[in-house]
Amino acid sequence: MPATILVGTQWGDEGKGKATDLLAGETDFVVRYQGGNNAGHTVLAGGQLLKLHLIPSGILYPHVTPVIADGVVVNPGVLLQEIDALAARGIDPSRLVVSGNAHLIMPYHLEIDKVTERYLGKHRLGTTKRGIGPAYADKVARIGLRVQDLTDPEIFREKLEVVLREKNLLLAKIYNRLPMDPAAIADEYLAYGERLAPRITDTSALLYRALRDGKRVLLEGAQGTLLDIDHGTYPFVTSSNPVSGGALSGAGIGPKEVDRVIGVTKAYVTRVGSGPFPTEDLGSAGKHLGERGAEVGTTTGRARRCGWFDAVLLRYAVRVNGLSDVFLTKLDVLSGLPEVKVCTAYEFDGRRYEDFPPHQSIFHKAEPVFEDMEGWPEELGGTGRFEELPAAARKYVDRISQLGGVPIRNLSVGPDREQTLAVDAA
Ligand code: IMP
Repeated sequence: MPATILVGTQWGDEGKGKATDLLAGETDFVVRYQGGNNAGHTVLAGGQLLKLHLIPSGILYPHVTPVIADGVVVNPGVLLQEIDALAARGIDPSRLVVSGNAHLIMPYHLEIDKVTERYLGKHRLGTTKRGIGPAYADKVARIGLRVQDLTDPEIFREKLEVVLREKNLLLAKIYNRLPMDPAAIADEYLAYGERLAPRITDTSALLYRALRDGKRVLLEGAQGTLLDIDHGTYPFVTSSNPVSGGALSGAGIGPKEVDRVIGVTKAYVTRVGSGPFPTEDLGSAGKHLGERGAEVGTTTGRARRCGWFDAVLLRYAVRVNGLSDVFLTKLDVLSGLPEVKVCTAYEFDGRRYEDFPPHQSIFHKAEPVFEDMEGWPEELGGTGRFEELPAAARKYVDRISQLGGVPIRNLSVGPDREQTLAVDAA
């Protein structure tokens, strides 16, 4: 039985949790393959809203095994907090497994994330300050500590000692911070290790066996295509590969296992943090989207920047992810706008760009070419079938599918599970 990859096609926050929720019923394993606790989704657990940053939302389903795979960076303190919060609400977290190959976010990563942002001043990236970038930097520099090191105290202390020699110089001499104590960090982390030990496993081997046994695997991307370190709007990106290719390396499975790549696309665009955003709307429409869409970051509490749907970005996401189809979210948020706009291309320096521009400077200065479409005053939350939507809303969905060159198979018109419609817009 093949695997499905689910990726965000924008700058994150597309509503991937909603799509996972819909697919979870027919899924045995839900896998996080990149990122760390910079992600965030709000889930209803034990009758209460709970914010999860690291644990896949699949944890809510008794039949699902949630997997934190090799490509993720793990803050073990945060992971244990989430496990405890779930258990306190009556959700059984015992099935959750973590790859021994995943890298650890260490206290100095958090500190370095904060001070480097401060030093960048007006050029700062607007990171979530969760230590994500510095943890991935150490992984690539081959000085990272991994989850498996937590179960070998001697090697953990030795590696930490070596790494801290350099990090403490950096913190103290460059950034004027206090040096960190390796013994205190080791004691804290090894205690986490004792609690996590039963969950640490070879998750790639686990998934391989599961797929051979006909189990269904959902690889759930965090962040989004335009935050990808290689394919996003660099340098205003995260430090991992949310794109579908990253799912394979991050989970340690081969391309032949995957038969569907779903792109989760919001019916408008949002972005947190700095960086170019051609269709951003700083006027009343942007305000409408932010307010009706409750566009506030789950992880940082920051207001998200809002703007019109951008078909250039969707075409790009179709290309770099090899999307099979799209799950379109939050269409209901557009209700009440007298007119809606869709960006079909960009213009810069007298040239028209139908595709994502090949140079970042062009993207920074790109002027969106908008197509104006009729809005709809009706609320959509109670719609049971696609055909029951107001004609203007259906036209909007069809146009997005046409401009993106990708079928839209599902459409969300509200936060509840029932507020999801099957579509055939191709
Ligand atoms: P980092 O991932 O904390 O290093 O932040 C890098 C950039 O990615 C910043 O612009 C963040 O706002 C953005 N980012 C990271 N995670 C998310 C997410 O889950 N949703 C939206 N933006 C995110």
